[in-house]
Amino acid sequence: MTGKHVLIGVTGSIAAYKTATLVRSLVKKGAEVKVVMTEKAKEFITPLTLATLAKNPVLVDFFDPTDGRWNSHVSLGEWSDLYLIAPASANTLAKMANGVADNLVCTTYLSAKCPVWVAPAMDLDMYRHEATQRNLDRLRHDGVHIIEPTDGELASGLIGKGRMEEPERIADAVEAYFAQPKPLAGKNVLITAGPTYEKIDPVRFIGNYSSGKMGFCLAEACANYGANVELVSGPTALTAQHPNIHVTPVESADEMLAAALHYFEASDICIMSAAVADFKPITVADSKIKRTGDNLHIELQPNPDIAATLATHKHKGQITVGFALETDHEENNALDKLKRKKLDFIVLNSLKVANTCFGYDTNQVTIYDAKGNKSDFELKSKAEVAQDIVNTLLPCLK
Ligand code: CTP
Repeated sequence: MTGKHVLIGVTGSIAAYKTATLVRSLVKKGAEVKVVMTEKAKEFITPLTLATLAKNPVLVDFFDPTDGRWNSHVSLGEWSDLYLIAPASANTLAKMANGVADNLVCTTYLSAKCPVWVAPAMDLDMYRHEATQRNLDRLRHDGVHIIEPTDGELASGLIGKGRMEEPERIADAVEAYFAQPKPLAGKNVLITAGPTYEKIDPVRFIGNYSSGKMGFCLAEACANYGANVELVSGPTALTAQHPNIHVTPVESADEMLAAALHYFEASDICIMSAAVADFKPITVADSKIKRTGDNLHIELQPNPDIAATLATHKHKGQITVGFALETDHEENNALDKLKRKKLDFIVLNSLKVANTCFGYDTNQVTIYDAKGNKSDFELKSKAEVAQDIVNTLLPCLK
């Protein structure tokens, strides 16, 4: 881990005594470690202990009255390759989930451009409380990696889930994270994701149920492999946290095409996972269409085919990947799209498989390539499916 900067956040939980071992393990593995603490954390472990082990001063306040120095959360956030809050108390998790910025640990979270990990530690009732679970869900959604607490005897004497993971295991996980291969380092990846909305009038649109999850998982998988990712996304509730992912939010297919064309030339890989609306209203009403009691006829015209348009701009060495969501004649339709859109790979989702596609966290896919190869995969989480897709196309990359 030589050259890796790990920032440790310490909050008010009895498990803070384990942070001493965590800091020591990371330093022994070669990482450079800095520590930020909350005021309450100082009641559980002294800054002197952690500063001695980290070989760096420990920061608690925004302002250091002894030398008048301003402890900048922005530069701390920029310095870090990983921000690991261990232990993360229920209170700090709640603040992070809501963007509260009243101490250095929390402001640094809001400034961090690196991946953020939290190792929760608390009593079992606090851990299983709906409010805490809601906050953890929120943080997961915001891209924070949660190191699950373990089961066992807690400081209160009660037995249950809430113990912070053992520090040596956390240090091993950090080391494994940094040891991950980066086969896409220096590569540009363009991904389209989510639905498109086609305006009918100022308050209505034609859309579809796509959540964007598959595209966001693909972006994350590529970014973890070191790629610079341009994620062109239709309307979605998701956010991307990885610093290598740049999101261009769009609404309509026309906007998605314009953004995709902008980034396509520079891309080495282009993955089109968006569920593009096939049609758009020929005219968009300027004001809200009123109910008259009569039927309403909206004439639609075809949207541009983004994948097919990009294919006409394709240059040598570029890899393009499309998706086919089919209900009948799945294989034939997928292979037809592979050819028609001049793709190198097509990922087939069948709507006949339960718990797949729109809105679900799982997916089951078959990947076909233009050379006639076919790979079947089992039902997996969308993050694992994304990993399978990226691993499948890696050997073709020049
Ligand atoms: N696609 C696209 N632009 C469109 C429609 C689809 O780029 N206007 C892309 C999708 O992102 C996907 C692939 O083409 O990667 C196949 O999408 P799908 O909707 O299954 O194909 P269509 O060409 O729309 O065919 P159909 O809806 O008739 O099955």
